[in-house]
Amino acid sequence: MCGIVGVLGNHEAAPLLVEALKRLEYRGYDSAGIATINGKTLDRRRAVGKLVNLSDVLVHDPLPGKAGIGHTRWATHGAPSIENAHPHRAGGVAVVHNGIIENFRELRAFLADEGVGFETDTDTETVALLAQYYLSLGHSPAEAATDTIAQLEGAYALCFLFDGEDDLLIAARKGSPLAIGHGAGEMFVGSDAIALAPMTDQITYLDEGDMAIVTRTSLEIRDAAGNLANRDQRTIRMDSAMVDKAGFKHFMAKEIAEQPTVLQGALSHYIGADGVVLPEPGLAFDQIERMTLVACGTAFYACMVAKYWFEQIARLPIEIDVASEFRYREPPVTKGTVALFVSQSGETADTLAALRYMHEKADKIVSVVNVPESSIARESDLALPILAGTEIGVASTKAFTCQLTTLAMLVLKAAQDRGQMSPQDVQTKLAALRGLPGVMNIALGIEARTQAIAQELSEARDILFLGRGQMYPLAHEGALKLKEISYIHAEAYASGELKHGPIALVDPNVPVIVMAPRDALFDKTVSNMQEVMARGGKVLLISDQKGVNEAGDGVWQSIVMPEVDDFLAPILYAIPAQLLAYHTAIAKGTDVDQPRNLAKSVTVE
Ligand code: AGP
Repeated sequence: MCGIVGVLGNHEAAPLLVEALKRLEYRGYDSAGIATINGKTLDRRRAVGKLVNLSDVLVHDPLPGKAGIGHTRWATHGAPSIENAHPHRAGGVAVVHNGIIENFRELRAFLADEGVGFETDTDTETVALLAQYYLSLGHSPAEAATDTIAQLEGAYALCFLFDGEDDLLIAARKGSPLAIGHGAGEMFVGSDAIALAPMTDQITYLDEGDMAIVTRTSLEIRDAAGNLANRDQRTIRMDSAMVDKAGFKHFMAKEIAEQPTVLQGALSHYIGADGVVLPEPGLAFDQIERMTLVACGTAFYACMVAKYWFEQIARLPIEIDVASEFRYREPPVTKGTVALFVSQSGETADTLAALRYMHEKADKIVSVVNVPESSIARESDLALPILAGTEIGVASTKAFTCQLTTLAMLVLKAAQDRGQMSPQDVQTKLAALRGLPGVMNIALGIEARTQAIAQELSEARDILFLGRGQMYPLAHEGALKLKEISYIHAEAYASGELKHGPIALVDPNVPVIVMAPRDALFDKTVSNMQEVMARGGKVLLISDQKGVNEAGDGVWQSIVMPEVDDFLAPILYAIPAQLLAYHTAIAKGTDVDQPRNLAKSVTVE
């Protein structure tokens, strides 16, 4: 998603803006730009592609000034181009924007009727033109910004800079997060605390509908109703170790390797002497009739696994859906329903919208998130942190396994609350969970094997992933990891479903990756594997030693995984899925941490 920064500093703003934008690169972008007040004059520089291109522009055409705004753009309206890059400017106003203005066509029509011309086809330019329109009516910058924001429909995080005003930024948020950073005689604006970390750890998060009028020595926040509002100023420790590669070639590699460590953190957070401990107000599963699990992408696949677990272990009926479909489906919500939302960023627009749909309908709103101060966390009755640490790589890895680990502990609490498992049995499973980081460390030892196989996978045009039962969602996660960073088409099927059509795709050029520990469904999966191999399909079997010994004959390749409690296999088998995708992408030469077209947090619907 787009990244926003603003600086009211005591030093040149351009270097600070570019450094802050670099820390937002993980969000995904295709152009960038900054604007400053140079003397009293508003000026800007923009470039298409990576930030290095903007830096080149600034070297040859410096942009002085101690007040400024900056932006990395992930194209929504209008192709990636200099003209469409932010900051957008109209007369004496520059603005940077994250989100989508849904009524921008009506606003353009109004402005056209007022004789205003347009240079681009973007929604953001309309915001700048509207603010300039109000300035031209004699409004002050704050009034112009207020009047403009009042006209906007849709999702936005905005930061305005005004000609002649070198001690003023005006920021606003609705649907897309925005933070204010407090410095010593300096103030900052940023999409998140990561962007502002080099300048300050004193952060104030704007609430939904807030507008902030910022000077170097003051911060005035007005809520959606226009009333003065106070928002907490917090210390957000974003130490550099959390946001650098620590010697790895990519953030994704570092985050894959970190999994045993961060899983340990999640386990320690929730496992107490008497079982699973949840933060207040907790969850009494014996009073819950059913749960609805909603998320997007990888987080949704964690929900898919959790459905098997909750239903098989806790005997709790579960509905799951992707967030973008859920609320438009308008599902009936029966009494005793708890809605649970899973989101690494806690800012995914589809998931947030689904959560808001369930407000007043569900008995309780629970979220499983990696950013405790995120919108989804703050709008939940109970927010459960996964403690994965900052995840920079666009492809979610450690967040996925920490989501699953947190959900696994919820399942065990549900099983105990609902009388499906004794406290002793729960303790046994928790002991297995506690051992998982160690097993995961062993599993990471398959990396060289995945690297070798990835060379051949990288030549494939299409790849199929198969899984049964709780491993079926892992097939989906493996397919998503692969396609989102290597750009190879990959699809996942329930093993038993292949023969109902998709088997027509099988031929020697289509690798079929089977995620199948030697569990109760293994023999069924072996039959499906045989169906594939009988038609010349080349199978990569990912199983434990027993499974490979029993079914490994005739397969194209196999990867042997450490044995693990069946319950924990979905968490462990994320490792081969991640490593195969990572090394295939390396072999393809794609941008592993910032794959094309993707954003780390999709804050637009
Ligand atoms: C996963 O690798 C992708 N980056 C994407 O599917 C992601 O999981 C999805 O956009 C949901 O993001 P969230 O967890 O931040 O809500």
